[in-house]
Amino acid sequence: MASLRPIDLFRGWPAPDLIPVDSLKEAAVTALSNKAISDAGFGYGPDEGYFPLRENIARWLTQFYAPPEAITASRICITGGASQNLASILQVFTDPLQTKQIWLVEPTYHLVFRSFEDAGFHGRMRGIPEDECGMDVHTLERALEEFSHANDDKESHGSYTGKPDRPYRKIYEHVIYCVPTFSNPSGTTMTRSRREELVQVARKFNALVICDDVYDFLAWTETPSSNPIGPSIQRLVNIDRTLDGGPADAFGNVVSNGSFSKLLGPGCRVGWAEGSDTFIYGLSQAGQTKSGGAPSQLMSTFINEMLETNTLQEHISTKLVPDGHRRYSLMISAIRKCLTPLAVTFSPDPERTTLTGGYYVWVKLPIPLDANQVCREAIDTQNIELGNGGLFSVPGGDSRDADLHRSLRLCFMWEDDEHLVEGINRLATIIGTLLDSEQNHPCV
Ligand SMILES: Cc1ncc(COP(=O)(O)O)c(C=O)c1O
Repeated sequence: MASLRPIDLFRGWPAPDLIPVDSLKEAAVTALSNKAISDAGFGYGPDEGYFPLRENIARWLTQFYAPPEAITASRICITGGASQNLASILQVFTDPLQTKQIWLVEPTYHLVFRSFEDAGFHGRMRGIPEDECGMDVHTLERALEEFSHANDDKESHGSYTGKPDRPYRKIYEHVIYCVPTFSNPSGTTMTRSRREELVQVARKFNALVICDDVYDFLAWTETPSSNPIGPSIQRLVNIDRTLDGGPADAFGNVVSNGSFSKLLGPGCRVGWAEGSDTFIYGLSQAGQTKSGGAPSQLMSTFINEMLETNTLQEHISTKLVPDGHRRYSLMISAIRKCLTPLAVTFSPDPERTTLTGGYYVWVKLPIPLDANQVCREAIDTQNIELGNGGLFSVPGGDSRDADLHRSLRLCFMWEDDEHLVEGINRLATIIGTLLDSEQNHPCV
């Protein structure tokens, strides 16, 4: 074991050789060599963020998603990445006194829980299961109805009287969190009809849907297509804009949380939010932004150069997508060869869905194995890190999904080709050994 090279299939980062260091360097030199740009970059920026970047993001999103109406800069503000922006959204648009409950797709991205707790929602998060079409919206609607009946009476909150009224904000009664495309951790993509149903439910219950749309650009199909996401899927934020004539008020019911972390490198800490003009203006008025303007102003000027010169778009189409596709296919073939014979199943499976992408494969262990046992053995005997399915269950919830505790998240974007395959081989050794010992010493 001491001689085994560590393999990390848990880390959800882009591998160092996927980072476009040279193009980013060139963009930085261009930005820093132009006094007008560097003056803007080194100053406190506008609340909504560096305007040329807002414009370029709007243009780029319009090209990529091909929505019925063009996306304008007024629908975009610059953020410090999806995580920072989740906290900002909660600061402006929720209040622990008036916002009743947080509903999260389950399994869900495990690092969001603390942001909800920090915003006052400890003990008020509920998981909603997903199937291969995405979040189970019927279960969500039923749960919201039951919750509304059971919580008609307002609780007492002592002397806390809530956040002050501000014209730029609206406090939503519920928050729904999901990763609709290539979900972290399960890789699931929500279908178009599910998305429409979710928007309708959000409107009915005065809920804000926060979508982490951070993997959309990393999409591929087995038969080449110029844009596998395009108009057929559409983000929830776009559906909210047009469905049944649009939302009931100017704030809308969906915000899209975008990020350059998975496209350029997480250390950039730049992202963007898209929502209605009114929502985006409100978001830009968060206290932390008023004191100094949008985050990541200098890095925004560098990334803007990359969008302006098309180098970011090219990096995605000529490097990230082909590399991601190759890595994903390698991992899937290794899983089919070594794990499927051990009764392991996985998703997304290109034989069952035409659209795959993102960073992760979600595998289900055969009964009677559980993820804790396998992850422990993986570290102790094979020097390999795996994403334990239990991590992705909503805290304090009574996760009814027993499958979660026998699931593993495997990232294919961090390790190189050789170690992706080697990692799956080692996992097969662990599972085979555990199954053998279960057969020899079955639990009674
Ligand atoms: C669904 C999801 N949201 C947000 C993030 C973090 O994004 P950022 O680096 O922009 O904060 C990640 C990173 O793994 C993620 O998977």
